[in-house]
Amino acid sequence: MRFDVLTLFPDLFESYLSQSLLKLAIQRGLVSVKLWNFRDWATGKRKSVDDKPYGGGPGMLIMCPPVFDAIEAIQPDAEQPGQLVMLTPQGRKLDQKLVEELAQHKRLLLLCGRYEGFDDRIRQGLQPLEVSVGDFICNGGEVPAMLMIDAIIRLIPGVLGDETSHKYESFSESGLLEYPQFTRPREFRGMTVPEVLLNGNHAEIQRWQDQQSLQRTQERRGDLVPPVVDDKDKKPKRQRRSKMRRDPGSPES
Ligand SMILES: C[S@@+](CC[C@H](N)C(=O)[O-])C[C@H]1O[C@@H](n2cnc3c(N)ncnc32)[C@H](O)[C@@H]1O
Repeated sequence: MRFDVLTLFPDLFESYLSQSLLKLAIQRGLVSVKLWNFRDWATGKRKSVDDKPYGGGPGMLIMCPPVFDAIEAIQPDAEQPGQLVMLTPQGRKLDQKLVEELAQHKRLLLLCGRYEGFDDRIRQGLQPLEVSVGDFICNGGEVPAMLMIDAIIRLIPGVLGDETSHKYESFSESGLLEYPQFTRPREFRGMTVPEVLLNGNHAEIQRWQDQQSLQRTQERRGDLVPPVVDDKDKKPKRQRRSKMRRDPGSPES
């Protein structure tokens, strides 16, 4: 999968691209990330990419010409044109479903805003998919873009060591939050690992994990537990969606 990141601050990505899973994914040829600077398409004596908003107001806006010119130059850089994605707090909120949808694309072009954001004609003219990482304002689209890349690459086959890992995470196949997990030591500062996880009875462990997952989701994120209608009394009840479990193991086995 290829990401083309359009930004005024490409250097922000350097350390992110050279560490951990993403670094390995790039080395293995599973992911490529190309960084582009809008400023390379700025024209005029001062090479400006931003200007004051018409009608007044604080701050500066990224102008249309360098953005349109950059995209027209970058799209032909690969065999297939990519899906344009604009990072904006006004977009569709990123969740696991959207991450899964985005992971289906072979190429994404991520437009990172700065200052007060983009001239609205960039949105009107290019019709990007507008994505927000949450109801808060970041200084720029770079961290939101990294966050998107981080979540998407987990779904690319070969990127995670254990191919099944992402299926059992919170929000994934079961749609619920994941159950609590523990590793060595068995006891730490008076806190112990639940006995059931130590007895080697895989069926019992799975039942406990399913029950914990449901309970945790009900306590913290009731909105994720869909009501279902019970045929008997037609009363809605909370649905329990059992997880397909990976092989139960133990750090001590
Ligand atoms: C300071 S913000 C501009 C916010 C804009 N004036 C508004 O109120 O909607 C600058 C840039 O950061 C990025 N950004 C900020 N918050 C974001 C969020 N929650 N999700 C995605 N991108 C965000 C966008 O690219 C945006 O153009």
